[in-house]
Amino acid sequence: MQKITIKKILGKKNITPITCLTAYSKSIAQIADKYCDIILVGDSLGMVLYGMKSTKEVKIDTMILHCKTVKKFTKKSLIVFDMPYKTYQSKFIAYKNAKKVMNQTKCDAIKLEGGKEIVNTIKYLTRKGIPVMGHIGLLPQTSTIYKVKGKNNNQKKKIFEDAIAISKSGAFAIVLECIVQDLAKKITEKISIPTIGIGASKHCDGQILVSDDMLGLSDISPKFVKQYSNLKINIENSIKNYVKDVRLKKFPTKKNAYN
Ligand code: KIV
Repeated sequence: MQKITIKKILGKKNITPITCLTAYSKSIAQIADKYCDIILVGDSLGMVLYGMKSTKEVKIDTMILHCKTVKKFTKKSLIVFDMPYKTYQSKFIAYKNAKKVMNQTKCDAIKLEGGKEIVNTIKYLTRKGIPVMGHIGLLPQTSTIYKVKGKNNNQKKKIFEDAIAISKSGAFAIVLECIVQDLAKKITEKISIPTIGIGASKHCDGQILVSDDMLGLSDISPKFVKQYSNLKINIENSIKNYVKDVRLKKFPTKKNAYN
């Protein structure tokens, strides 16, 4: 199994779709590593694992703990650490935190949310040898409403300009979250680095989903998610049957007992 490098990710643009998923735990990371190019330890873990109202509450040390586990149990995929809210307000704060993250987790890159306003930070980090993935469109760390972006011309112009600016800042890829498809197509055709879409259509160079969403473990399922499993129902049936067996003394049996 050959390790996926940033060079390999860049080489996939216009050649083959880039496959990405989030992972926060050993079990999902081990499986995703067999198939995905990129594993993102996303700050979505705040809502998905910890039931937080938004990703704003996620702390860097929580992310580090999960990323260390993901890194420990993966060999092939590129591991990207999602810098949480208020850990990159200036280029100096960003560098201090990114260095800590890279040293402690041994991840391959970090991801930052934002457009033109974070270009100087990305330039600073990449010049200092920290690989950065951008993230534009819907920005969960700062958005108050979760709505598709790029429906009007002002938004389209802003997101397009953000994409150009981020692509020229030294970032190696950009996540496009929840934007209209003609805009995703225009950005993907214009910029030289890969675009990774989530709710941004087939026109992107790659796709990412939150693993719990595609596995059917989440409470909500936005239109852009395709559910490949219904783990919630599977788990519920398993627990229901276990409880029933215990009550009926059908479990444990001889097979589960020691002599
Ligand atoms: O935190 C996350 O999972 C993300 C993805 C939605 C791209 O940022």
